Order: sequence, then C-alpha cells, then structure tokens
Amino acid sequence: MMHPIPTLHDGLRLADWTQTMKRSVLRDMIAVVSRPGILSLAGGLPAPELFPTDAFAQAASHVLATDPRALQYSPPFPALKAHIVDLVAQRGVSCTKNEVFITTGAQQGLDVLARLFLNPGGQVLVEETVYTGLQQVIAPFQPEILTVPTDLETGMDVDAVEALLREGARPAFIYVIPDAHNPLGVSMSAEKRRHLVELVRRYAVPIIEDDPYGFLCYEQRPEPPLRTLDNEWVFYLGSFSKILAPAVRTGWMIAPEALIPKLTVIKEASDLESSAFMQRAISAFLDAGHLPGHLATLCREYGTRRDTMLRALHECFPAEARWTRPTSGMFIWVELAPGTDTAALLTRAVEQEQVAFIPGHAFAVEGRSHASHCLRLNFSNATPERIEEGIQRLARVIRRE
Ligand SMILES: Cc1ncc(COP(=O)(O)O)c(C=O)c1O
Repeated sequence: MMHPIPTLHDGLRLADWTQTMKRSVLRDMIAVVSRPGILSLAGGLPAPELFPTDAFAQAASHVLATDPRALQYSPPFPALKAHIVDLVAQRGVSCTKNEVFITTGAQQGLDVLARLFLNPGGQVLVEETVYTGLQQVIAPFQPEILTVPTDLETGMDVDAVEALLREGARPAFIYVIPDAHNPLGVSMSAEKRRHLVELVRRYAVPIIEDDPYGFLCYEQRPEPPLRTLDNEWVFYLGSFSKILAPAVRTGWMIAPEALIPKLTVIKEASDLESSAFMQRAISAFLDAGHLPGHLATLCREYGTRRDTMLRALHECFPAEARWTRPTSGMFIWVELAPGTDTAALLTRAVEQEQVAFIPGHAFAVEGRSHASHCLRLNFSNATPERIEEGIQRLARVIRRE
C-alpha cells in the first residue's frame, strides 16, 4: 500500500534530527485515498461542493481589477486584521488590530510559536493523542515531550497537567485544542478551561490554543476559547481553512502586541509574508458580507453529516465499540475492542471494501500504542449517503476480523 522512499545517495549528510523523522501517515493516506474508487473518511477535508466559489471568484476579480498592490510584496493587510477582530469577537475573544498577526494558515502559527518558545531539547506539554501537525513542528527541536491523557467527554486531563507542573515541569508551552479536538472530536469543559488558565498563570507557562474548528458548531453555543480568560499567557490561533477554504492558506494568531515584532521576524524566515492577494481577496469576500450565510450553511450541512455518521455507527458498529459525540468540528474518534490493530484493519478495509480512515496510532505521541485500537473518522468531506455507505463497509470489515 505504501510507496517506498527512494534510498539517498552516499555521502549526503542530513541534520541529525531527520534520522528520527517519522513518515507522515497522513501523507501516506492521501496516496491511498486518491486511488480511484476509495470511499475516504480519512482526511480532514472540507466538503468541496460547499466552497463559496462564485462569491470568492467575484471578490478575487474585484481585488485584481481595483488594487494593483494585490500582486506585490506588501505588509499585512490592515482591513483583514480589522475583519479578524470582528470575527473572533463572535467567539467572545476581544483584541485590537495590533494584536492580530496574520499567518499562512494555523500550521504556520504553530511553527512560529514553537520557534518563539522552544529551545532545542526543551520540554513541551501535549495530550498523548495529538494533532500530527504539532508533532511535525516540534520534531526538529528534539524536545522532551510530556503528555497527559484526554477524557473523551471533558477534554484534556488538567489535573494531570497540574501534577506535572507541581512536580517541577516547566514546559516551553502547553498545546491544546479546546474546541473540536483533532483527532478526538471532544471539546473541553468550562471548568477545565478555567483550571488550565489558572495553572498557566500560576506557573508562568504559555498556552498555544489551536482553534481552527470553533466556528463549526452543531448544537449549543460552544464554550468561549481560553483566550477569553487570559490575554497574556494564551496564544490563540485561528484559520480560514475550515470556514472558507484550505487553499487560501490564511489564518491568524492573537498575541500580545509587544511580541508582534519578534513573531514577524520569525515568520519572515519561512515565507517573508502571507500572500497579499489572498489577504485582499478574503477581505473583499468578508466586506461583501458572505461569511455569515456561508457559516450557517456549513454548520447545517456538517451537522447533518455528523448526525448521519453517529446514526450509522450506532446501527452498524459492534456493541463494544465506543465513539465521541462531537458538538463541533469534523471528526469522530472510535475506540474498538482492546487488542484490535487499526493499522492492519486499514489495509483490509482498503483492500476488501475500498473504504479508508486514519488509524489511531498516527496521532499517538512518539509512536506509543495507547491508541492502536482506535480510529479517526471525518464527517465533513463525504455526502451523507457516502458516509452511511462508508460506515456500513467499515462495519463489515470489523465484523470479519
Ligand atoms: C488542529 C489543527 N491545527 C492546525 C491545522 C492547520 O490548519 P491550516 O490549514 O490553517 O494551516 C489543522 C488542519 O487540519 C488542524 O486540524
């Protein structure tokens, strides 16, 4: 199933840390799911048929017709920063334009913050099941990774965080996705949010709050982000990837104003600046008032897809399976019977039923085995009919095991 990496020629020396570099399981998955005929519940992709292509095309043409600077090197676009201030206010986050740092996606926000905080060999504190993109960002630093478990209903185990800090751990940062965790789908309880923020203030440890999914909510209003509880220790990351389109490669960080000059220098090293054209096109899209209607469509449609997947899991999966019931985001996390090997299951699922998911071990820190019987399912990309079909196929493979 996997395409082997060609051997390197003799004498080519790579940096030491690349010796421990893991294959990107997610990249491997892309190769698998792009094979014709595979029904994929694997990636973290939005529904392509819901992209607001006409409205975005109009916004982009308007920019090109009216603003020649759109194709030039240019500093961050102030009008987009103003829009971001208004947008995050909908999540309860209050900030000024001067605290908005535009990024080339939330992934770059993670990278810039890791460079800001982390020394080679330093400590970081994450959940034991964590977004793979964070693992990739910190790998070159060869850090000591401290982990805490996650409760599938209330989120990160904050008591475990407290125990580590009390024992003397001083991580460079704590990474957390309080809303619609990727891959677990869980959102953190209000009480844990307060406790975590109280801890980082007491122990002077910054939090990276990654919030690409918070606008996609299917039930009651989500809890306010950690950044609403603290504006000094919480570094808040957002993105247009999941609410507009990943290919616009534009996101934001809300950070203390005094740090923006340092963040700017760090970011310049990787891409000089985020695309002026995209920043203006997104801004024009927002000027035209398209986002609220688009978000309402996404929440309605993804909510239906989530419900379809939950219903299909209930009807088709074995009684001993457990899964999360996300109130927002794009993922459901499934635990199968202990001892099940979901990496092997994936091979059979693709071969026998042409259906794909991401096995849990892909998200386990440093290859630990606690998630080897788990899998992540995406419910945003496939239509409800395909989701139902995909879960039925997967259930057949599991039954045959
Ligand atoms: C938790 C999390 N953080 C960051 C990202 C990267 O987002 P962006 O496309 O804005 O770089 C993703 C993308 O899937 C994600 O799931």
